Amino acid sequence: MDLPGKKIVLGLTGGVACYKAAELCRALVKQGAEVQVVMTEAATHFIGAVTMQALSGHPVHIDQWDARIANNMAHIDLTRGADAILIAPCSADFIRKLAHGACDDLLSTLCVARPRGVPLHVAPAMNVEMWDNAATRRNVAQLRADGIRIFGPGAGAQACGEVGLGRMLEPDEILDELVASFQAKVLAGRRVMITAGPTFEAIDPVRGITNLSSGKMGYALARAAREAGADVVLVSGPTTLPTPHGVRRIDVQSAQQMHDAVMAGIEDQHIFIGVAAVADWRVVNASAQKVKKEAGGAPPQLVFEQNIDILAAVAATGSVSGWPYCVGFAAESENLIEYGAVKRARKNVPLLVGNIGPQAFGQDENTVILFDEDGHTVLPTAPKLVLARQIVSEIAKRLERRSLLT
Ligand code: C5P
Repeated sequence: MDLPGKKIVLGLTGGVACYKAAELCRALVKQGAEVQVVMTEAATHFIGAVTMQALSGHPVHIDQWDARIANNMAHIDLTRGADAILIAPCSADFIRKLAHGACDDLLSTLCVARPRGVPLHVAPAMNVEMWDNAATRRNVAQLRADGIRIFGPGAGAQACGEVGLGRMLEPDEILDELVASFQAKVLAGRRVMITAGPTFEAIDPVRGITNLSSGKMGYALARAAREAGADVVLVSGPTTLPTPHGVRRIDVQSAQQMHDAVMAGIEDQHIFIGVAAVADWRVVNASAQKVKKEAGGAPPQLVFEQNIDILAAVAATGSVSGWPYCVGFAAESENLIEYGAVKRARKNVPLLVGNIGPQAFGQDENTVILFDEDGHTVLPTAPKLVLARQIVSEIAKRLERRSLLT
């Protein structure tokens, strides 16, 4: 669960995207959050309070004068002890109210009355022209200046039939943003490039050689680095995984393509993490046409050539400046402690993450060992995302130590 015990006030304002708020509420509860729904009167025209009560498990508050709370001060009580307020959907009008500190209904009043430590996030939802309107832009800029986070909006087809920016993000994207908001921004302002997944080395147009890497660890690291505030580019071999929200992804197939994509963008990166299971060899005599199987004929003879070591090539670019900070991965089937330390030295990287290979491939959990100049540290078995967050924090610690030394 990503939000265990978190107390979230979920505010709904008037907009068709209220139908997505039901799904969002469900997702928040599923992730362990305790959700208190507050709706504006306009929101009730789009979705019933009964639905939101059933999904959140708590009575919904709408009316400022509702006497259900003992002291009749819902606008105060509902945010005391809350971990965050999330307004989704947030209409153009509600953005205006927030920008001006309006207190003319329960939701706007509780936003103004929230304690300083309770973050306020909004997921805008409106027509493209409304989003683009100068007044809305002014109000959104004011919200940002006031420390209110804006999740989205996304672009695409809108309920009104027009197309463009203004769609509320999808519930899973809003959930990702909310989860990210609770993570320490230890990589704020850093640019991170990550390779992930297997590579695919063609034999002919329909056949090739690949490996069992699922890409899950690399994708988890991309998500964790982005949650930590980094600008992340993910160079990915073929996988079926969804791109983590807010991450730029470049798809490649072969090791050579992965190398070329990495080298084209490595120059201004602060951190490079090579998680991909890059094929060690490629087929030199790959056929341009499908190789035909002749009855009784000899099988094709494949000739291999070694692929470039991408991690080593990146480490070499930073041999003088020390940038990017390079992190390697090593999957071994035995003697991990011994092989990991040797591999770190051979690859000439400051940090190497080792794991016992085949068992972890495709799994959601892993156990890893970090190797650096001081020795090794075991990170016990945990979901890959949890490990990824720990690895990100270990990288940040080492970067901080480095900048203190220089
Ligand atoms: O030598 P080995 O393949 O075990 O090293 C694994 C590490 O090196 C991983 O970080 C992997 O992404 C990287 N690597 C690479 N290019 C290769 C082979 C491995 O970047 N051709």
